[in-house]
Amino acid sequence: MSRRPDRQGAAQSSDPRSRSENPNMTVSIEQIGEVAVVTVDNPPVNALSQAVRQGLLDAVEALDADPFVKAVVLTCAGRTFIAGADVGEFGKPPTPPHLPDLVARIERAKKPWVAAIHGSALGGGFEVALGCRFRVATASASVGLPEVRLGLVPGAGGTVRLPRLAGVETAVDMVTAGAPIGARTACEAGLVDTVIEDDLVAGAVTFARTVLDRPLPDALRDRSVAASSAGFWDAAAGSVAARAKREEAPLRALACVRRAAEADFETAIAFERETFLALRGSAQAAALRHVFFAERAATRPPELAGVIPRTIGSAAVIGGGTMGAGIAAALRDAGLPVVLVERDDGAVERGLANLRAIFDGAAKRGRMSADAAAERMAGVIGTTDYAALADIDLVVEAVFEDLDVKREVFRRLAAACRAEAVLATNTSYLDPERIAEGISRPDRFLGLHFFSPAQVMKLLEIVPTKATSPDVIAAGFALARILNKIPVRAGICDGFIGNRILKVTRVQAERLLLSGATPAAVDAAMRAFGLPMGPFEAQDLGGLDIAAFQRKAARARGEKSFAPIADRLCAARRFGQKSGGGWYDYEPGDRTPRPSDVVAAIIAEEAKSWLRRDWHDDSIVDCILWPMVNEGARILADGTALRVSDIDLVKIHGYGFPRWRGGPMHYAQAYGLDKVVDALDALASEGLADPPCDLLIAAARHGGFADPSR
Ligand code: NAI
Repeated sequence: MSRRPDRQGAAQSSDPRSRSENPNMTVSIEQIGEVAVVTVDNPPVNALSQAVRQGLLDAVEALDADPFVKAVVLTCAGRTFIAGADVGEFGKPPTPPHLPDLVARIERAKKPWVAAIHGSALGGGFEVALGCRFRVATASASVGLPEVRLGLVPGAGGTVRLPRLAGVETAVDMVTAGAPIGARTACEAGLVDTVIEDDLVAGAVTFARTVLDRPLPDALRDRSVAASSAGFWDAAAGSVAARAKREEAPLRALACVRRAAEADFETAIAFERETFLALRGSAQAAALRHVFFAERAATRPPELAGVIPRTIGSAAVIGGGTMGAGIAAALRDAGLPVVLVERDDGAVERGLANLRAIFDGAAKRGRMSADAAAERMAGVIGTTDYAALADIDLVVEAVFEDLDVKREVFRRLAAACRAEAVLATNTSYLDPERIAEGISRPDRFLGLHFFSPAQVMKLLEIVPTKATSPDVIAAGFALARILNKIPVRAGICDGFIGNRILKVTRVQAERLLLSGATPAAVDAAMRAFGLPMGPFEAQDLGGLDIAAFQRKAARARGEKSFAPIADRLCAARRFGQKSGGGWYDYEPGDRTPRPSDVVAAIIAEEAKSWLRRDWHDDSIVDCILWPMVNEGARILADGTALRVSDIDLVKIHGYGFPRWRGGPMHYAQAYGLDKVVDALDALASEGLADPPCDLLIAAARHGGFADPSR
């Protein structure tokens, strides 16, 4: 803690020693008349490091002892209020002073503290603000308790003070979902006393002076919780459980709020602390922490440090089908003007209609206003004319998955666009090197692989060719940031990272059928593991024809492609829901999968030479998951992925792998790679999987995958 002179001139500190003997520069005190302004300055986000906690504790002590000070404003330098815990301290033994003690000390301060919030007051930051007697905020600020997203509950009284401030309904919403809320909503809910339009600190000081004239409200610890309506807790438990699915933290957070409503303050605080400590060491918290760090690392790849991305202020999409319309919607959602190019006028109209349907659907579901949907469409120009692309910064091609069609599109794009424009293909399986062959300035070309529906799915695989320049790769990462997506760099191979692992998933799923499992049993086991859908249901939804087309291409290249049952289904034109049957039968107008006798007969015929086994949920999951991990290790070994955590991000954000499992690679490491190797050896000995690859065996021996980014 340091003291600065009074803003109006001479230092007014009654304790000059604090300047010379306490050089904690992360927390400083300035006096403006009888109001002290305590400023936290711990860039980049004023995280609650040990130094900040100590500085704040010293500040409370010093200001309590200072007879000139009547009130205290707590504010932060830089772009935000205290945005949460110090992630550098995650997983390490906590060092004093502990946050709950600090918050309690601020709450017991002799002078009223006013939290002056700009940016975000999240987690521990918001708990500090709840320790203050008042909270004021800029209009753009937000507050929240996002701990459940890391598999935790708030640990410094958030679940106990929040219902005392704003009632149980608001507390349950905020604590169990973890979503931050804006200052105006927070003000309406009573979380913030006033919104300050102009200078935050000046406004907070004025606010502090006015409250000095009135009786102070009770500290939150001394307030009671308003009674909830009958049936409230049962209803809350039902809806939180439905949303959380298998995640533990949301229901535990609900239990904390309930305890806060039903027990005295100290009992509730002890219960919250106990819950926090129990969850901190849980497998789910470790998995969610891993994903949190993986996501942070993904947006700033070290290999691009210092590279300035090409600017992207406008975009075009070629092809307005499923993917093109979704990509255009994502670009519009990010505020970029979009030109949509199709092959003829009728296709332009269909493409625009696809796009309109996306926005209208969002408006119907209440995700955006009708005006916003109209505004999104007003920013789109549909055309067949490449001349409209002369000034565009980024073009994403999403035409048919056909090499010749794509090459022709890029030949025209190379001629029509600026030499600096970024030209991207959304191909799923074609080789981007071959798509780009012969275009002028191939340094501007790369793969940007979106996932369906592109306006929703978070993953963006970024696939450079040998010629792609670093500033174009960096533009891919910058685009992901603009679109609020998770970028993962992938090398060129059949299916990049995600679809290459998906192929293994499907091979394993068929091996299971050939050795005695049913489609329904396999799907149920994978759902029980936490996936939103099993592999067969997913194929029926997406259509079996896409993978069949890709297998045909692979076989034409002389590669082997194992899908004896899927091949038979496609030959029988069972392409999935769209053809009334695939791995399951469907009644017209009903998407409920029904076990199919036709499929059972095909499986029985194909399985004649296979040994039958008894399968149960766990062994089914092992038979699918460990080969996926093995493929992940191969993907690392051949450089298709640069970081093991990138593989986890691909599966989580592109394929619905449960976040709370941490992704397949994290899950395998937590389970024990030596056990995974043994399981693969056992499966391989029965012809049910490939044997473990060298990198996986080496990683098992060394206790984990080496990750160059950590
Ligand atoms: P789609 O068949 O729904 O749409 C393709 C569109 O491209 C059609 O509207 C067609 O009129 C248009 N088109 C064809 N040739 C054109 C040309 N020369 N100029 C302008 N427009 C032309 O196909 P979808 O599913 O949108 O796939 C597009 C691309 O995205 C493919 O490369 C596919 O592999 C890839 N992809 C597809 C995913 C999916 O889940 N459907 C996921 C990720 C990538």
